[in-house]
Amino acid sequence: MMLFCIFLVLLGETCQGQPNATRTLGIVQDTGIIRAEIGKNVTLHCFCQNDVTHISWYQQSLGGELCLISTRMKQITVAEMSPAFQKRFHVLAHARECSNHLTITDLQASDSATYFCAVLEFNGIEFGPGAFLHVRASLSDTQPVVHQPVVEQLRPGDSLNLSCTVDAESQCASEQSLYWIKQGAAGAAELTFPSAEQCTTEKPHKRNCTFNLEIHSASASDAGMYYCALASCGEIVFGNGTRVEIIGRW
Ligand SMILES: *[C@@H]1O[C@H](CO)[C@@H](O)[C@H](O)[C@H]1NC(C)=O
Ligand SMILES: *[C@@H]1O[C@H](CO)[C@@H](O)[C@H](O)[C@H]1NC(C)=O
Ligand SMILES: *[C@@H]1O[C@H](CO)[C@@H](O)[C@H](O)[C@H]1NC(C)=O
Ligand SMILES: *[C@@H]1O[C@H](CO)[C@@H](O)[C@H](O)[C@H]1NC(C)=O
Ligand SMILES: *[C@@H]1O[C@H](CO)[C@@H](O)[C@H](O)[C@H]1NC(C)=O
Repeated sequence: MMLFCIFLVLLGETCQGQPNATRTLGIVQDTGIIRAEIGKNVTLHCFCQNDVTHISWYQQSLGGELCLISTRMKQITVAEMSPAFQKRFHVLAHARECSNHLTITDLQASDSATYFCAVLEFNGIEFGPGAFLHVRASLSDTQPVVHQPVVEQLRPGDSLNLSCTVDAESQCASEQSLYWIKQGAAGAAELTFPSAEQCTTEKPHKRNCTFNLEIHSASASDAGMYYCALASCGEIVFGNGTRVEIIGRW
């Protein structure tokens, strides 16, 4: 597996499956959910700490594959960009401070994704915690609305289905997928891949979907902000977030 990843980096294969490699503390990168507007520029920061040979950026869109954006050897400050990312993606690097910042210009809705900074060490590839970049969709009357409760309080050991309801009135409502993105205390954004959602069609093109995330036997690590995100028509619409609080004593 490690060798496979090394070959993927060195041979420049652009996309692969899930990041199976271990997460590392040797990378400090922007984490959590970063919001930006269409047409603007954004910079995602990354610093490496260990002795590394190569530093890369990867993009993983919601439910999609992990794609290599850029890679460079530590001593060389010019990164090699994968063809799909050559136009609007740039890497600003310093060899001495081991930084590897990614700037994306003229943001597009399709840039919404998780961005991982990764390093290749002698013993394998390691990923940073990842940052979820949300490029906000243009507001329109037909924009879907994602409803979710503001707060849920749980006692340790409780179970709960977090609910998310979507009112969507759009031509591509059938192509929508729902995700939960959790922002925990450590700041990292964790993604939950879609499970079954129940939808009713009330009027033509108007669907009401309910999408539950089950929290089993709650513990302190379940606390955090849970955002329900709808991917539809190439754009992503976020709910306002449910704050899950764990109350009481063990
Ligand atoms: C990661 O693991 C999954 C499931 O075991 C596998 O399908 C996928 O190919 C692996 N990805 C890589 C890059 O090895
Ligand atoms: C984004 O960066 C490009 C290149 O540096 C610059 O020309 C452009 O004005 C910037 N756009 C915004 C909205 O700041
Ligand atoms: C989300 O929050 C905004 C601002 O507080 C509010 O106007 C909007 O109605 C909320 N949306 C939902 C779906 O609750
Ligand atoms: C959550 O929903 C699932 C599927 O509908 C159900 O099996 C489960 O019992 C529910 N859990 C709770 C705590 O309500
Ligand atoms: C959507 O469905 C949920 C659960 O069935 C319901 O509570 C809600 O009122 C419905 N929303 C609309 C706009 O009909």
